[in-house]
Amino acid sequence: MKKLIIGNWKSNPKTLAQAIKLAKASDKRGAVIAPPFVFLEEVGKVLKKAALGAQDLKIPPEELKRLGVKYVIIGHSERRALGETDTVINKKVKTALALSLKVILCVGEKLSVRKKGITVAKKFVAGQLQSAIRQLAEADKIQNLIVAYEPIWAIGTGRNDTPADASEMAMSIKKSLKSAKTKVLYGGSVNGKNAKFFLKALGIDGLLIGGASLKEGEFRRILEI
Ligand code: PGA
Repeated sequence: MKKLIIGNWKSNPKTLAQAIKLAKASDKRGAVIAPPFVFLEEVGKVLKKAALGAQDLKIPPEELKRLGVKYVIIGHSERRALGETDTVINKKVKTALALSLKVILCVGEKLSVRKKGITVAKKFVAGQLQSAIRQLAEADKIQNLIVAYEPIWAIGTGRNDTPADASEMAMSIKKSLKSAKTKVLYGGSVNGKNAKFFLKALGIDGLLIGGASLKEGEFRRILEI
């Protein structure tokens, strides 16, 4: 399966000039660039090989499509922390899929859950997943849904999950979806050094990268892997 590498820029960089420079440097096949909403249009004009992604469904999906957006991240832990419920996430997933956007659905457990062991964490993640994909057509689950496993304790902390545990979780997600074909990504403190171990791990079909996607050289190194 072809690997997918998503750069989630969050609220960075500060200026449009910096965003354009970073987009040009990140424009490789197999990459999806998700800039802040304010830069979507201009970054979209720069990308020739990489696809354009939105960080949420905050603006109407029809508008995102007009800007050339192909992917949308839904259910990121930062949105969930702001109070986004499973019901809202499910609605957004369905809305995005209905307009043929590809959905990158984020799931992942808190540290207090993981501390109870990987089996408990797998059950928790399967629950999140099932709520998010309620009433979804089987074909959508396979073709247009991508699941990003992002343990919350690993996001932006410099403390990544082990490739072995992330792989176990990815396999568990595919099992819960009853679909070995759905792409599962890992996210959480991925960098130029550890990326190759995740990309080699069974069941991991790509990466969702925050911090390291803002560093031109590092992101390029990851894309080269
Ligand atoms: P990180 O962020 O790579 O900086 O840990 C990942 C994310 O929030 O998607």
